Amino acid sequence: MSPTRHASWQQLRALADTWRKKHLRQVFEHDPGRAASMTAAASGIHLDYSKNSLDSEVLALLIELARDCDLAGQREAMFSGQRYNLTEGRAVLHTALRQQVDTPVKLDGEDVIPGVREVRARCYDFAERVRSGAWRGHTGQTITDVVNIGIGGSDLGPLMVCEALSPLADGPRVHFVSNVDGTHLSQTLRRLDASRTLFVVASKTFTTIETLSNARSARAWLVEALGSETAVARHFVAVSTNREKVTAFGIDAENMFGFWDWVGGRYSLWSAIGLPIMLSLGGARFDELLAGAAEMDEHFRAAPAERNLPVLLGLIGIWYVNFQGYGSHLLAPYNNTLRRLPAWLQQLDMESNGKSVHRDGSATDHATGPIVWGEPGINGQHAYFQLLHQGSQIVPVDFILALAQRGQIDSHLPTLVANCLAQSAAMMRGKTADEVRAELTARGMAAADVETAIPHRVFPGNRPSNTLLIDNLSPHRLGALLALYEHKVFVQAAVWNINAFDQWGVELGKQLASDIENRLKGADGKPYDASTEALIALAAAGIGRH
Ligand code: F6P
Repeated sequence: MSPTRHASWQQLRALADTWRKKHLRQVFEHDPGRAASMTAAASGIHLDYSKNSLDSEVLALLIELARDCDLAGQREAMFSGQRYNLTEGRAVLHTALRQQVDTPVKLDGEDVIPGVREVRARCYDFAERVRSGAWRGHTGQTITDVVNIGIGGSDLGPLMVCEALSPLADGPRVHFVSNVDGTHLSQTLRRLDASRTLFVVASKTFTTIETLSNARSARAWLVEALGSETAVARHFVAVSTNREKVTAFGIDAENMFGFWDWVGGRYSLWSAIGLPIMLSLGGARFDELLAGAAEMDEHFRAAPAERNLPVLLGLIGIWYVNFQGYGSHLLAPYNNTLRRLPAWLQQLDMESNGKSVHRDGSATDHATGPIVWGEPGINGQHAYFQLLHQGSQIVPVDFILALAQRGQIDSHLPTLVANCLAQSAAMMRGKTADEVRAELTARGMAAADVETAIPHRVFPGNRPSNTLLIDNLSPHRLGALLALYEHKVFVQAAVWNINAFDQWGVELGKQLASDIENRLKGADGKPYDASTEALIALAAAGIGRH
């Protein structure tokens, strides 16, 4: 059933207009106490959600909506291993990958936890052998460089974590190749010595064309450099759920680390897909990452909605998407090592909640997942923040800032922190015509010039944001932060009654790409529209010329 049928939805709709007319600056003037009351914390993450266009009345109704939509029941269905991903008939158990206790998690009567731990122990053992130099390449050299070949969930998660925790890295250098544009691979390999390079071919399905093309070219490069096919065994490992395809590719099952169909690609960094993280940081740090995520899982499962971070972020997002009509959401991490966080969240959120049918297949009559985007906040300030402050669209922002991290230059920290806090304050309060007038007059500008300048220098304000302050960007806190966003996406899907765990929308493009590739190679095929036909002809001629 659609969430719009609940009375709570209708009541929220009735409140939406009132809130469109309120300005956050006045809201704060009337109730400064909201700064203290509209905060929540878990796992070293402090959330200030007071700069949002809502109050306790709206929040209570949003929580009622979540209750009406049986968020709690759906959450238990996921955690307990029910086949919650109904269009693929699969359970959704990425939380089991990081569970710290021995409580069995049963799928079809069988506990999945022992299998999880066994694969993880194999991964740790392998990572340790590479890191210690016990694992040698074909010519007896130790491994200095690891190249992860994967795309989507088999790339973004490990890439983002390796970058976020790079100040702690003490293993081989890690590189990530995802794009089938050959320059991605060739530019990466240019700097590497084949005898000291290990390739991790990461693909849940092991059918992804981009990954297989890159893996084939990498293998050809290695075999040519080392002069022997047998070198592959010491330089290629695979992470996949598809043993048959891995062995068909020529990677020994001994060198394969498995996972399961109940781990969605975009939720897979906690599985063997995290192998590059283990290679770069070691098993102990990966354990910390898992422990942080597990702590957030427990918080999500047990904390009351009013203090539950994923529930709060999810419901605030619903208020904006469905009741205020804001279709985009910006992630602004201020720590540079979090620079790939928005790309990871983009897949997590948009591949999960970019849906237009309910779980029963009926069309949605409400908006669903927003457009998620972002860059490090400080860089954004010098690029697109202009639009956030004075543009015609309102974009809710999550400001994310860790106050400590190895590698920090302490003298830079106040500047970084001040910028982050200044942006959320500026977006909330804005600047009135009177303030601009007073400021320009005090600077000695002539009265007539002041009046001309005012419209350009007024900031409307009333632009909402969350601020997430993290005490220390450790593996534990990062794990908690990532699990927080995973569950935020879950909360929204549960309320919207959509399936967050399939991704049929990526299939049509894949089918057509394969067909068009055949056409480019000269095969006959059924004609496309006039535009695509003309582009195929132009591209075929262009490829032929080079
Ligand atoms: O095309 C989308 C997708 O299926 C993602 O969901 C997935 O993370 C990515 O492709 C890579 O898939 P695989 O790990 O099977 O290569």
